[in-house]
Amino acid sequence: MAFHYLSAGESHGPCLSVIVEGVPAGLPLDAEMVAADLAKRQLKAGAGGRMAIETDRAEILAGVMQGVTTGAPIALQIVNKDHAAWKGKAVTAYTTARPGHADLAACAKYGFNDIRQALERSSARETACRVAVGAIARQFLAAFGIKARSYVASLGNVPAVAIDDETAFAFAETSPGRAPSQAQEDAYTNAIHIAKSQGETLGGVIELEVTGLPIGLGSYVTPERRLDARLAAAVMSVNAIKGLEIGEAFKGAATPGSQLHDAIVRDEAGQLVRPTNRCGGLEAGMTTGQPLRLRVAMKPIPTTIVPQKSVDLATGKPATTTYERSDTCPVPRACVVIESVVLIELAAALIEKLGGDSLNEMLPRYAALPKAAEVQLSAEPKVFWP
Ligand SMILES: Cc1cc2nc3c(=O)[nH]c(=O)nc-3n(C[C@H](O)[C@H](O)[C@H](O)COP(=O)(O)O)c2cc1C
Repeated sequence: MAFHYLSAGESHGPCLSVIVEGVPAGLPLDAEMVAADLAKRQLKAGAGGRMAIETDRAEILAGVMQGVTTGAPIALQIVNKDHAAWKGKAVTAYTTARPGHADLAACAKYGFNDIRQALERSSARETACRVAVGAIARQFLAAFGIKARSYVASLGNVPAVAIDDETAFAFAETSPGRAPSQAQEDAYTNAIHIAKSQGETLGGVIELEVTGLPIGLGSYVTPERRLDARLAAAVMSVNAIKGLEIGEAFKGAATPGSQLHDAIVRDEAGQLVRPTNRCGGLEAGMTTGQPLRLRVAMKPIPTTIVPQKSVDLATGKPATTTYERSDTCPVPRACVVIESVVLIELAAALIEKLGGDSLNEMLPRYAALPKAAEVQLSAEPKVFWP
């Protein structure tokens, strides 16, 4: 199987661990670049107290020698600094299920007697593992010129505004709220400040772009090989993500077909080009060679200071939820998580396409991939089913 991973670890346990399998040999792995991605998951805007405690760093324990991947499984470990405060300490039982979280269904499903047995793993602390794995995928894909970037398009009731892509993505890279402009940054900061003072949480929408993709990653031949489906599964697997739009899907649903689909034309250099990209870089489960464009909706997270109606599962009586340290709006922090899960899926699709045990084996195969302009058909009539 190409590029897949398995993570383990609880939010307040000793550490998070993850094993990544299927990374080709010969990829120089920069631990500082992994750390830089992990830092993006720890942006302070909208984050709770936990982020002030942790400075995530992934220790590479296997699969890398002299800074280069060997093709063997890569083992990573991220220490939970907060574990020290929990070790050996009796912790108050957590018995009132939070609407919107795993609490009620997980206790029913696994027969727990304390919600903490569920929340330790259902917590988005696990997404640090995915960001570490995503950082490996990012470095692998960069060798082929494939890059991802993202920004928070809207946050709470602050609507999205039209900003050209280059400005928006570039501004977000250094913006604490991953906003596309200073005006949006100020509006997000204000919205988070108000939500926090009211004990509320806020959701938002993340815009993502991946450039440099070749034509023909993924396939239409079986449902599970469709890249749109695989990306949707990857994105929807991120905690609190409730919606995904590929290209202009929702606007497109109200547009006549002839006005929606992206024309295929030959430019002056003889290349086949698509002047528009309303399909978001995916057609029939395959990349078109244009930028991949996804829009992702994140709900306001479940743990609020404002009490919510629930039931105390120890007494069986009506109760309101209690608050333990939590984020106000992790949408800015979720940007790198979304980039990571998308990059992991794209790395898997590229490895499936190219095969090969090492980066050196793959690079020439990549250069030799067929281009759209090279497609040559025969106009002869044929008997396909004699
Ligand atoms: C980066 C990130 C940070 C999160 N932080 C919190 C948090 O502090 N408190 C909380 O209740 N939920 C938080 N969540 C969301 C919950 O983990 C999520 O809502 C929960 O697991 C239930 O899953 P679901 O929302 O996908 O249905 C966070 C999600 C992400 C992606």
